[in-house]
Amino acid sequence: MEFADFHAQTCNLLTPFLRAYLEESLPDGKLRDASMHILCRGKMLRATAALATAVSYRPAFAIEEALPEVAALELVQTFTLIHDDLPVMDNADFRRGVPSVHRQFGEGYALLAGDLLLNLGFLVLVEKARSSPKRKLKMIQALSRAVRDIMEGQALELALSGKKVELPAVERMQWLKTGSLIAAAFRIGGLLAGIGRGELASLNKFARFLGSAYQVKDDLISAEGEPEEVGKSLEADALLERPTMVRALGLKRAQVYFERLHADARKSLDALSLSNPTLLIGFTKFLVARRK
Ligand code: IPE
Ligand code: IPE
Ligand code: MG
Repeated sequence: MEFADFHAQTCNLLTPFLRAYLEESLPDGKLRDASMHILCRGKMLRATAALATAVSYRPAFAIEEALPEVAALELVQTFTLIHDDLPVMDNADFRRGVPSVHRQFGEGYALLAGDLLLNLGFLVLVEKARSSPKRKLKMIQALSRAVRDIMEGQALELALSGKKVELPAVERMQWLKTGSLIAAAFRIGGLLAGIGRGELASLNKFARFLGSAYQVKDDLISAEGEPEEVGKSLEADALLERPTMVRALGLKRAQVYFERLHADARKSLDALSLSNPTLLIGFTKFLVARRK
C-alpha cells in the first residue's frame, strides 16, 4: 500500500475512535467541546508512524486492533499543542486551521483540556489497549519519557529565547521537544510488532534522526510557509526570538542540515530488519514534501 493511502486509512479509523472515546469519557459540555476542538484536525503522523512501523515488521498486522495504543500518541500530541499555544507560551491564535483552544474557549478551558488529554493518553492505554500488561507498561514508559523530555525541551526553549542561538543547544532542544515523541511513536510501533531489544535499538536510531528532522522541517515551514496553508500561527518564532534552526543557521544552511538528517534517517532505515520497508520509506519521503 502507498504511504498516502495508509495515512488516510489511519486518520479514517482513528478519528471516530477518538471522538467516541472523548464522548464516553466526558459529559456533554464546554470541557468536552474544548478537548475535542482540535483533536482530530491534525495530520496524525505519530499514530501513522507507529502503525506503519508495526505493519512494516508484520505485514499481516491488523491496524484496527491497535487504535488505543496509537490514540495515546495523538492525545498527548494534542495536549502539547494546546498548552504550547497559550499566551504564556507561544501566544498563537490559530492551530490546525481553526482558532486555538484558548481563543475559542478561554485560557482556563485550554489549560484543563490540555491536562485532560494528557491524562486520557495514558488512560486509553491502560483501559482500552489489547496489548499484554507487560507490553503496555513498556508503552507507558516510552510515552512518559517523551512527555518528560518535551517539558524539558519546552523549558529550554523558553530559557534560550531572545539569546544568541548556538547549534548544539538548538539540536538538544529540538530533540527533546519534538524528536522524543516521534521516537516514542516508532517505539510503540515496534512494541506492537513484538520486535526484540536489539531491533528496538536500531529502530530508535532511525527514529532519532527522523524526529530531529521533523522539527527542522517545522522551522523551515514556519519561515517560508503561509499561515493559511500551514493552518497555524507562524509569527511566534520570530517575534519571541525562539531558538530555531533557521535562526541558528540561516534558511539555506538549515535546509542543508535537514537534508543531512533526512539522509541519515534513510540510511538507518536500510539497517532495519523489516519485512517490507515501503511504508517507512514513504513516511520519510512525506516528511521532505510536507508543506504543513
Ligand atoms: C507540530 O507537529 C509541532 C511540532 C512538534 C513540530 P505536527 O506538524 O505533527 O502537528 P499536527 O499534530 O499535525 O497538528
Ligand atoms: C510545538 O513546538 C510544541 C511542542 C513541540 C511541544 P513549536 O512551537 O515549535 O511548534 P508550532 O509551530 O507551535 O507547531
Ligand atoms: Mg508553538
